[in-house]
Amino acid sequence: MDKLIIRGGRQLHGEVLISGAKNAALPELCAALLTAEPVTLTNVPRLQDVATMRRLLDNMGVKTQTHGERGGMTLHAANPITPEAPYELVKTMRASVLALGPLLARFGEATVSLPGGCAIGSRPVDQHIKGLQAMGAEITVEHGYMIAKLPSGRTRLKGARITTDMVTVTGTENFLMAATLAEGETILENAAQEPEIPDLAEMLIKMGAKIEGHGTRRIRIQGVEALHGCEHAVVADRIEAGTFLCAVAATGGDVVLRHARADHLDAVIDKLLEAGVNVTDLGKDGVRVQAASPAYDYLQAMSFRTTEYPGFPTDMQAQFMALNCIAQGTSKVTETIFENRFMHVNELVRLGAHIQIDGKVAVIEGVRALSGATVMATDLRASASLVIAGLVAEGETVVDRIYHLDRGYDQMEAKLRGIGADIERIK
Ligand code: UD1
Repeated sequence: MDKLIIRGGRQLHGEVLISGAKNAALPELCAALLTAEPVTLTNVPRLQDVATMRRLLDNMGVKTQTHGERGGMTLHAANPITPEAPYELVKTMRASVLALGPLLARFGEATVSLPGGCAIGSRPVDQHIKGLQAMGAEITVEHGYMIAKLPSGRTRLKGARITTDMVTVTGTENFLMAATLAEGETILENAAQEPEIPDLAEMLIKMGAKIEGHGTRRIRIQGVEALHGCEHAVVADRIEAGTFLCAVAATGGDVVLRHARADHLDAVIDKLLEAGVNVTDLGKDGVRVQAASPAYDYLQAMSFRTTEYPGFPTDMQAQFMALNCIAQGTSKVTETIFENRFMHVNELVRLGAHIQIDGKVAVIEGVRALSGATVMATDLRASASLVIAGLVAEGETVVDRIYHLDRGYDQMEAKLRGIGADIERIK
């Protein structure tokens, strides 16, 4: 298993190219199932979850081909397609559930494994099932699989008003994709507003879908009979950009994040500015971050709670907590989205952080310095927080089980090395 060896204490300087967003690429790869014509995506990030999704689609009979330097991928879901997502692939990536909506909408049937538990909580898919049932699908759960089909005599899903019990990102994406080919109008109330949703909607509109209100709490979709191919560039990854913002804030330095979208990072940037980090919106040139070191002398610890977009993202909680560990003062971090997303805490404590957990709340007492140790990555964003901590810790930090990091970051250690970090991968 690969490990990262980090020798902390270096400031970061230079430029980083932010990749396409994992959480936009995954639904957009699945959107290719909605048409028999080829779909071309560009700016697809090179990461493990994308490779898994590609394998899932290949397995169904979709022809996929990568091309070009800048993450080009063409997907062609011409018939015949086997509308099935097996457990072996779904278990490694919960986002496989995103195949359900498009398969049902185009083929009238789908068999998709239940994702099962994952490290950050139980993460059920009841809302996905409820919403697609409201659109006329018959769904049963048998032998660990969701078996979905249309009632006999029907060839298309039907439009519906769907109100989910909570805001769900992949749920909204599943309904949005399914509704493009449904008969009549679908209204999604309580829709997720994460930037990946309007990016997906814009791709679907290029394919001929009729969608309004994407990016707001209420999305209206008028179903059409068929969609066609398109070309679409995946939006920049706001979580990758946010991770680099926190890394530079922790180590000190001056870095420009090319392609990063400051307007997708308002909640994170506001907290960094309050903490004492200099963040500048360069418009189409990206985002610049400047920070002094040592962090303890310049940074104020910041309390926050995770909420749906446009609130503070749960996917940035762990990385910001690493920053709070070395900032001055006491901060309170409240995780409201996932029940078990503090697994990085014990590892940060191994590096010398002072953190106490009480249910959904972590209380962090900033310390002047962390000290290198061997730590274990437990999930994707937790891994990123350990890398950030390792970049500032005195001595050597070994981050084990970095396959979690590879699931969601496009060449993170190479990008960090490019701006001056002392970091290497050991096979
Ligand atoms: C997506 C993101 C993930 C991010 C999360 C929250 C992708 C591929 N993943 O995950 O990186 O951390 O949004 O911003 O885009 N829930 C249910 N039943 C359901 C669906 C969700 O109870 O059917 C609950 C979840 O357990 C969680 C909350 O709703 O507590 C929000 O989850 P959701 O937005 O669905 O997360 P994902 O879409 O899985």
